[in-house]
Amino acid sequence: MSNRPSHIAIIMDGNGRWAEAQGRNRSHGHEQGAEIVRTITSYCSNHPEIDQLSLYAFSTENWKRPKLEVEFLMKLLEKYLKSERSTYLNNNVRFEPIGDLSIFSKSLRKVIDDLQNATHDCNGLVQNLALNYGARDEIVRAVNNLLPHTPITVEQLNNALDCKHNIDLLIRTGGDHRLSNFLLWQSAYAELFFTDTLWPDFTTKELETIIKKFRTVERRFGGLN
Ligand code: FPP
Repeated sequence: MSNRPSHIAIIMDGNGRWAEAQGRNRSHGHEQGAEIVRTITSYCSNHPEIDQLSLYAFSTENWKRPKLEVEFLMKLLEKYLKSERSTYLNNNVRFEPIGDLSIFSKSLRKVIDDLQNATHDCNGLVQNLALNYGARDEIVRAVNNLLPHTPITVEQLNNALDCKHNIDLLIRTGGDHRLSNFLLWQSAYAELFFTDTLWPDFTTKELETIIKKFRTVERRFGGLN
């Protein structure tokens, strides 16, 4: 039996380099990256064997970027989450933000809340969008929420996380081979795929090729087959 890619996670890297290679500024790469978010989410929503798609949109470390780039990303997110509402609804996609949202502006938080509420009853794909997300931060927040209940079990900690679902397939675009603090707990037994393709060039065809390879991997989860 082949593996089912029930939960796919993607580290969407390479927007800046993609834009710079064309002599454009990095913002242009992020804009194009947002288009690919739409394309890949639609593709996954049309494949019922995929239940969850987790996307790394903004990390707890991304605040270190130049102020103008951070501001641009915040505006882009707000614009995207507003304008794509009908795409989420038409594709029956439930929007689930993960990360510490308390840091965002009131207006962005409202847009996030509105989309989450609007898609609450969608029962197709779940899109977990990582916003001000860091896995270490997620784990620390979860532990703090469980205190003073000690000792805790693996299951209790798992259920206190923003994202409670094991990842089957984790993809990173952009050529680097690292996890960059993304869904570390949930990736414990994920199959990892790295591609040199920059995120704005990533296509559904490449995703299909990766899924095809993933299906044939022997997953043992620490046991013996
Ligand atoms: C990494 O590329 C990408 C990000 C830090 C942000 C991801 C954002 C998007 C895909 C677009 C916005 C998303 C939504 C949902 C509207 P990079 O800037 O690190 O690229 P580089 O490694 O080439 O510099």
